Amino acid sequence: MSRWDVTNRRSSAPPLIIFTVIFLFVFIHPSIAWRPWPHQRHNATELQFGSSKKYEGSSEFVKLRYHMGPVLTANITVHIIWYGTWPRDQKRIIREFINSISSTTAPSPSVSGWWKTVQLYTDQTGSNISRTVRLGEEKNDRLLSHGKTLTRLSVQSVIKAAVTAKTKPLPISPKSGLYLLLTADDVYVQDFCQNVCGFHYFTFPSIVGYTLPYAWIGNSGRLCPGVCAYPFAVPDYISGLKPVKSPNGNVGIDGMISVIAHEISELASNPLVNAWYAGQDPVFPVEIADLCEGIYGTGGGGSYTGLMLEDRDGATYNMHGIRRRFLVQWVWNHVVNYCRGPNALD
Ligand SMILES: *[C@@H]1O[C@H](CO)[C@@H](O)[C@H](O)[C@H]1NC(C)=O
Ligand SMILES: *[C@@H]1O[C@H](CO)[C@@H](O)[C@H](O)[C@H]1NC(C)=O
Ligand SMILES: *[C@@H]1O[C@H](CO)[C@@H](O)[C@H](O)[C@H]1NC(C)=O
Repeated sequence: MSRWDVTNRRSSAPPLIIFTVIFLFVFIHPSIAWRPWPHQRHNATELQFGSSKKYEGSSEFVKLRYHMGPVLTANITVHIIWYGTWPRDQKRIIREFINSISSTTAPSPSVSGWWKTVQLYTDQTGSNISRTVRLGEEKNDRLLSHGKTLTRLSVQSVIKAAVTAKTKPLPISPKSGLYLLLTADDVYVQDFCQNVCGFHYFTFPSIVGYTLPYAWIGNSGRLCPGVCAYPFAVPDYISGLKPVKSPNGNVGIDGMISVIAHEISELASNPLVNAWYAGQDPVFPVEIADLCEGIYGTGGGGSYTGLMLEDRDGATYNMHGIRRRFLVQWVWNHVVNYCRGPNALD
């Protein structure tokens, strides 16, 4: 993947058209992980008893490889762009999740225990992914600068606007910064709810001026909670299956947390899409969180979430953060060759 420009020199950028063609293929890959996508039409029997034998991921089929590119070994700073109307209480839940990644005070099983699996990934020099993830600067795009419907390319223009703003632009840090574009529940992004709940990539120097690892994650609370906030909501077409109660009282945001975790773990281990992924084809990378999507506990796999925890109010979670509980999918552990999380029983 050396054709990607990893420096910030505009002049060395390949033509936009090549980027665009490759880019459009990258995230429309058939997912091997599980979500109740609308085109799959799962039924309740299948969901309750599991449609797959792939418990906690199967090591037989997974060939996760390192492709020599960088991983995020320097202290990671997460910058957020809030796109659309974001109530303060919703922002707070997300900030507290990000602050929990490096917290040393949360009880076990903890978000920082979850991050330990991500830290197992190293670069060419043997340096591990950083233990430290902190919240950086934030930018509000309350008035929807690029409209209520975004495409994969206009997402980059939103990021450009945030890093080049006249007042308080987001800092530019290609080596340690991650940029999260978080869209409010009335914003639609290309393929949202159909094939994706979020995606990550890096910005093109030809559009943004820099190569910055970024992710988009949408609040699915209004558009498709049964898909992207599963298991806090279930799709309409499945009768007889009850959603579980979300730990922070907001189905859209609680569902978003796991997708944010998914994207941050992949950004750290594959920021330029030339480091850790499985599959033969770099255009269709299967990354460390893709392999474990839908798995939240021991025994998980297929449509079964695995063993989760329940708090006194009956809310379902699998890890503690600072002052809060969260339900976060597991990630692939390449040392033992299966999905792992801090609430694993074995
Ligand atoms: C549900 O799915 C299972 C497994 O695919 C199938 O055997 C069963 O007939 C389906 N039930 C209904 C009611 O569609
Ligand atoms: C990285 O983070 C650690 C722990 O938060 C801190 O002690 C260290 O000084 C940081 N390193 C740099 C280069 O900022
Ligand atoms: C760094 O990665 C190696 C290889 O996966 C692992 O054995 C080691 O425990 C990791 N170190 C930390 C601090 O996670």
